[in-house]
Amino acid sequence: MKKIKVNTSSKPYEIFIGRNIFTNVIDLINKKNLYENLFIIVDKNVFIHHKNLIENTFDNFKRKYFYIFTSTEKNKNLEEVKNIFNLLIKKSYGRDTTIVAIGGGILGDLAAFVASSFGRGTKFIQIPTTLLSMVDSSVGGKTGINFGDTKNLIGTFFQPDFVLIDTLFLSTLPNDELLCGLGEVAKYYFLTGDNFYKSTLNKVLNNNINDIEKLIAKSISFKTNVVENDEREIGLRKILNLGHTFGHAIEIDQNHKIKHGQAVIIGITCSLYLSFYLELINHKDLNSLLKLPLLFQNLISINNANIESIYKIMLRDKKNRNGKIKFVLVKEPGHIFIDVEAEKILIVKSLEKGLSLFI
Ligand SMILES: NC(=O)c1ccc[n+]([C@@H]2O[C@H](COP(=O)([O-])OP(=O)(O)OC[C@H]3O[C@@H](n4cnc5c(N)ncnc54)[C@H](O)[C@@H]3O)[C@@H](O)[C@H]2O)c1
Repeated sequence: MKKIKVNTSSKPYEIFIGRNIFTNVIDLINKKNLYENLFIIVDKNVFIHHKNLIENTFDNFKRKYFYIFTSTEKNKNLEEVKNIFNLLIKKSYGRDTTIVAIGGGILGDLAAFVASSFGRGTKFIQIPTTLLSMVDSSVGGKTGINFGDTKNLIGTFFQPDFVLIDTLFLSTLPNDELLCGLGEVAKYYFLTGDNFYKSTLNKVLNNNINDIEKLIAKSISFKTNVVENDEREIGLRKILNLGHTFGHAIEIDQNHKIKHGQAVIIGITCSLYLSFYLELINHKDLNSLLKLPLLFQNLISINNANIESIYKIMLRDKKNRNGKIKFVLVKEPGHIFIDVEAEKILIVKSLEKGLSLFI
């Protein structure tokens, strides 16, 4: 199994990647002296497909509780957190608990938030089961829940004790969810200019997942590097938000009928248009860069979008400063600008153009 070290100032930890490595979680808990009082939060669909593997693996632990979670953006909320807090108290779990998250990004973000806040912090293990959570959300320590109309408004920075990525879980992941992970992979292409992301994304879209482990390791290594340099998103880490300011608002306007990864692809498209309107790229570059998100054109479809409502949602983005929306934009793949401001008229034009390609 491959190992990647993460050296954040708050906590160094390791990420393990491989196929059929899930049962190693036991050795790792022992080796890292984590508490053996396990509170295991498992995605409902993952539990349906992998029940035996999960139950048998944890069989030897005397103190364990399986909390089955239905992963939807609507459930990524304070009410769920409260339910889990109540259960932890009712079952007499204290600070000497290890919370294990087995699921995609929704579950991982919520479980991490619980782990960071219960008893001022428990031990915490991330076991991502979607491509999106394997290439992105399980690493970096951003925890979060949605609040009101704002995605991930409430949250903390809290690094896990280790991350275990078993690609076996991808065998049961629905195709449209695999596609969501590719949204973040497209983002890595624009951030790095590395053609490996583009070519592997193309292969995965054509059902060739031979390079998936390499893709995960490369994505995670890149993200790790960024996070090590700027754990709390003061500067460099902001690049990881490419496509997300537009994307989060589109997700909410569509009432979460499109998924996060799909919204990121549309968000990247709008960001490319805004880069063009702000003259960071010319028309020829725009057409060339649009080719990547357009690979998803027939795979994502949205209802008529309300541009004014999307703009209003963007005005509430937690990354705004002094009431101004801040964008991550592209000069060329590998050459990124952060904290770019734009006139409303250009933002609206970018939304109209970007969204029109997916309606
Ligand atoms: N913390 C971060 O840095 C960060 C980064 C990117 C995204 N995110 C968050 O991640 C979330 C999206 O995560 P996601 O795309 O993983 O979605 P998700 O967690 O909703 O999972 C997608 C769907 O796949 C199912 N599923 C998960 N694993 C499966 C498996 N192995 N087999 C069968 N079904 C499976 C789930 O039940 C769910 O229906 C968003 O809320 C986003 O805000 C966080």
